[in-house]
Amino acid sequence: MCGIVAYIGPREAYPVILKGLKRLEYRGYDSAGVALLNSGLKVYKKKGKVADLEESIVGKDLHANIGIGHTRWATHGEPNDRNAHPHLSNGGRLAMIHNGIIENYAALKQELLKNGYHFQSDTDTEVLLNFIEYIQVNNNCSLEEAVRIALKRVVGAYVIVLIDQENPDTLIAARKGSPLVIGIGKNEHFLASDASPIIEYTKEVVYVNDYEVAIIKPDELILKNLGNERQTPYITKLDMELAAIEKGGYDHFMLKEIFEQPQTIYDCLRGRLDADLGTITMSGIEKYKEQIMNANRIVMVACGTSWHAGLVAEYIFEELCRINVEVEYASEFRYRNPVINKGDVIIAISQSGETADTLVAIENAKKQGAIILGVVNVVGSSISRVSDAGAYTHAGPEIGVASTKAFTAQLAVLTMIALKIAHDRGSIDKERYHRLLHELNDVPDKVKATLEQHEHIKAIAEKYKDSTDSLFLGRGYNFPVALEGALKLKEISYIHAEGYPAAEMKHGPIALVDEKLPVVFVATRDSYHEKVVSNMQEIRARKGRIISVINEGDEQSTALSNDVIVVPEADEILAPMISVIPLQLLSYYVGVARGFDVDKPRNLAKSVTVE
Ligand code: F6R
Repeated sequence: MCGIVAYIGPREAYPVILKGLKRLEYRGYDSAGVALLNSGLKVYKKKGKVADLEESIVGKDLHANIGIGHTRWATHGEPNDRNAHPHLSNGGRLAMIHNGIIENYAALKQELLKNGYHFQSDTDTEVLLNFIEYIQVNNNCSLEEAVRIALKRVVGAYVIVLIDQENPDTLIAARKGSPLVIGIGKNEHFLASDASPIIEYTKEVVYVNDYEVAIIKPDELILKNLGNERQTPYITKLDMELAAIEKGGYDHFMLKEIFEQPQTIYDCLRGRLDADLGTITMSGIEKYKEQIMNANRIVMVACGTSWHAGLVAEYIFEELCRINVEVEYASEFRYRNPVINKGDVIIAISQSGETADTLVAIENAKKQGAIILGVVNVVGSSISRVSDAGAYTHAGPEIGVASTKAFTAQLAVLTMIALKIAHDRGSIDKERYHRLLHELNDVPDKVKATLEQHEHIKAIAEKYKDSTDSLFLGRGYNFPVALEGALKLKEISYIHAEGYPAAEMKHGPIALVDEKLPVVFVATRDSYHEKVVSNMQEIRARKGRIISVINEGDEQSTALSNDVIVVPEADEILAPMISVIPLQLLSYYVGVARGFDVDKPRNLAKSVTVE
């Protein structure tokens, strides 16, 4: 949800900002803009992608050693030049970029209108900026102080970065709810929504905390809370290489990330799973192991693809650990006053670690005495910091907007947690436990074997690319996989896709079936398999076009299907990590065949830091 970049130091600011914005474009790509301070403050902004901005300002005076830049995912006001950031204050002295939502902007705007302020845009950002200017002018105070006073009145989430014409050696930034990383170089500072714009310049970073204001000069970083007390910046070393955020020869990040999965799942297991010794070591959750083992219930809280991972985990935890599990949409959970008892274990699942709904849901649950475990990909992210404990998924940066490798890594981590708890609770028999550990070790190779079929899957994608609707069906562990397949297809190819439990289809969606409708069955061999085959028969009888994901030697399903994708067999608990791969590839190839930008699907953004 919006990417922000800023620079102050001896370099030319514009190239640093531009490159950074391109790296952050996954966060939003409705419009982009920069403000550069040299002799006067220059603001350039443009509807569209960062490349459109770049093209539109060729030949302009872009020289500056201090600047701010923004790539937008629209919330207040449609995507156009006028609503693009940075915004300029009425007095023309301040420029500001913002990521987040100012919920009480309407009331602040009324106050400002009464005081003669006018607005160029429809954004909440311009309101906050002018509110800051208003305070600065009326209180005759420094910008830093005006920011602190203003933010005490603000309801909502924000990262803001301001440039002041009259103080060309200082940037002021503040954060609540949305992420802000500051990179520390030699007499220079880099600010960004995540570390990707910073990594090639420095590995030393500070993650700014909620309600902190940063006063940044080339050679100095001061952090204060809203009460004007100095805070000690906690410097962290980035554990990430530049190559991890580049395409590495693939046409798209999404394809690269799909193909990375044998490695990312392996990385996730490495150092934790020792199948020969029969051990799973997860130091992050060790401290809370007793509480998890004795929990009356576990609640998985997440959104989107991560929520689908939670659904798979529900089946795994209930079967192996015999603990009651509920899976909640974070956006519902945070508002519906759920019953939370002291000692309930909440598992927050999130790739970005910044999803606003998930973050607030766990903050609320924590206040009510729940134990929060985070299964998070981005190290140092807000959700990982709010969590009491947890396990990182170690999938590396996921840049394609559609989540792929994060999903399989989440499944790998959640499976290990479940196996560990089941083992220690004694709720799994020894033979199955050891067999599952060995089979889990084999998953990366099975994913690799599945990926080898990409040309076959591409040919299937070509065949169905002009469909307008589709159904994805599965049962048991493969039901959430069907949901995930449908989500991937709709977000990447804009084909309407619905995921359903295969049996539930009879209660309504079967009315959609005709000779044109592609129906994707996730039908690997498991305890539900015969039932799924019966559901296939029902679709076949109504002339639906069946594409099935099956295991070797499944003659029955093959006979009923128009197209089959054969994947290696695995225990049903582990099968989703494998059966989801063809669905990711299918969506990717359909999206590409339809000519869409699969890394940046329309209307979406990678990190949903607004509710
Ligand atoms: C779908 C997708 C989204 C995310 C969701 C949660 O491909 O990427 O549905 O899964 O926005 O995001 P995280 O996992 O970052 O909390």
